[in-house]
Amino acid sequence: MVHQLNVNNLGKRFDNYWVFQNLNYRFESGKIYALTGPSGGGKTTLLNCIGRLTDASDGEILLDNKDVSSIKILKYYRNYIGYLFQNYALVDDQLP
Ligand SMILES: Nc1ncnc2c1ncn2[C@@H]1O[C@H](COP(=O)(O)OP(=O)(O)OP(=O)(O)O)[C@@H](O)[C@H]1O
Ligand SMILES: [Mg+2]
Repeated sequence: MVHQLNVNNLGKRFDNYWVFQNLNYRFESGKIYALTGPSGGGKTTLLNCIGRLTDASDGEILLDNKDVSSIKILKYYRNYIGYLFQNYALVDDQLP
């Protein structure tokens, strides 16, 4: 089954600074997308919103027409979203 992730009028701000506003895009499972843009342009911030590491300030993110914020977070990660961190975010298993 092909899943759709719709970003609708999405906006994210930090204090009074809007990183992006009125962002609209549709992603489909099974496809590969490249998110490109200048440093500080908001690429990580968008992925953090989709990955639910941070809340959007405006708009909505729908997975198969269901607002992702209504999906239990464990179900979301287990069934729909995988997130590879730029800095790996690995937990060191070396004892001090
Ligand atoms: N937690 C935060 N608090 C305040 N401002 C933030 C925070 N995270 C990001 N920003 C700001 O949001 C803007 C977008 O940052 P972001 O990290 O999303 O850009 P980016 O496109 O991923 O850049 P890069 O290509 O360098 O990874 C920048 O101006 C950044 O300073
Ligand atoms: Mg980044």
